[in-house]
Amino acid sequence: EKGAYRHFMEKEVHEQPDSVQHTLSEYLDLVTGAAKPQSVDFAAVDRIQIIACGTAFYAGQIGKYAFEKYAGLPCDVEIASEFRYRSPALTPGTVAVAVSQSGETADTLASLTWCKAQGLKTAAVVNVHTSSMAREADVLWPTHAGPEIGVASTKAFTAQVSALLALAVAAGVARGKIDATREAELVKALFEAPRLIAEALQMDGQIRAIAHDLAKATDVLFLGRGAMFPLAMEGALKLKEISYIHAEGYAAGELKHGPIALVDEKTPIIALAPLDEVYEKTASNLQEVAARGGPVVMIAPASAPAPHGAGIRRVDAPDCHPLIAPLVYAVPVQLLAYYTAVQKGTDVDQPRNLAKSVTVE
Ligand code: F6R
Repeated sequence: EKGAYRHFMEKEVHEQPDSVQHTLSEYLDLVTGAAKPQSVDFAAVDRIQIIACGTAFYAGQIGKYAFEKYAGLPCDVEIASEFRYRSPALTPGTVAVAVSQSGETADTLASLTWCKAQGLKTAAVVNVHTSSMAREADVLWPTHAGPEIGVASTKAFTAQVSALLALAVAAGVARGKIDATREAELVKALFEAPRLIAEALQMDGQIRAIAHDLAKATDVLFLGRGAMFPLAMEGALKLKEISYIHAEGYAAGELKHGPIALVDEKTPIIALAPLDEVYEKTASNLQEVAARGGPVVMIAPASAPAPHGAGIRRVDAPDCHPLIAPLVYAVPVQLLAYYTAVQKGTDVDQPRNLAKSVTVE
């Protein structure tokens, strides 16, 4: 039940320190600081093909950045409804990975079955461990988010991201890309996520104030670079789903290739800007937007240097290792959608036209 919370979504957002902790513990050993051995021999794999829909697709894209960066393992991510009908060309050393909360999404399941029929090794990152995908795949990679009631996915998303980040580290170790010192550093960083997610939940008051203004907008842009790009798309999806405000997520560097034409004083821009190797690039993109009169909200650690120019509102996020930024920054993104929807008075847990599990194509 909802307990002290007004909606299941709010409750599920607050459960994330626990659900992330449980999921990480499936793949990593906190005591030894090591990634647990996997039945998939990552050293023998030459490509990962992730297949998913909606929020799980964005989790997959975050996974791609990690598999390539930390394991040197090529990774493609595709929307299942496209993948299953376009005759994709796959090599025998590919592992097909379905990512799904329910494990029942029709297009994802059909894609998984097709990959298996092609003779590929298959795995499923699923939250419902008895689901069709869990049974169909050769390997089950569980997430431990517990039952998710809110139609808009929150804790299942961060659990998927947790599993994929942990598996990327495991793959990096197996492929000799990560030595023991680096492994210990990355595992430690991942296990800091639950505490930092709890800290991010304290951004509540600041986010509520932003949401108050966002509720008046008809269009919102979310921007990010690196793993913050898929998170920007997830933020836009969340806002659309529950507040019915039109939103788009863009790679910050793509702005000048088109979307900057949309920028005016009525279009809020939400930027996800952790202090990572591309922070300065993002900050300069924001100056460009602010210079054109766009109201910018920059979610960044207080320690990040201020971009020059007026019109940039800062929301302070916790400092964190870049590996876990998608987990920590997921919280303000979810809270922003949540409070905007509450402000608009929509049905947060049961948004119009949406079903929790899409078992028809
Ligand atoms: C968004 C949302 C959907 C699902 C998508 C896949 O908040 O919930 O986009 O992520 O329908 O569902 P699963 O993960 O069950 O395959």
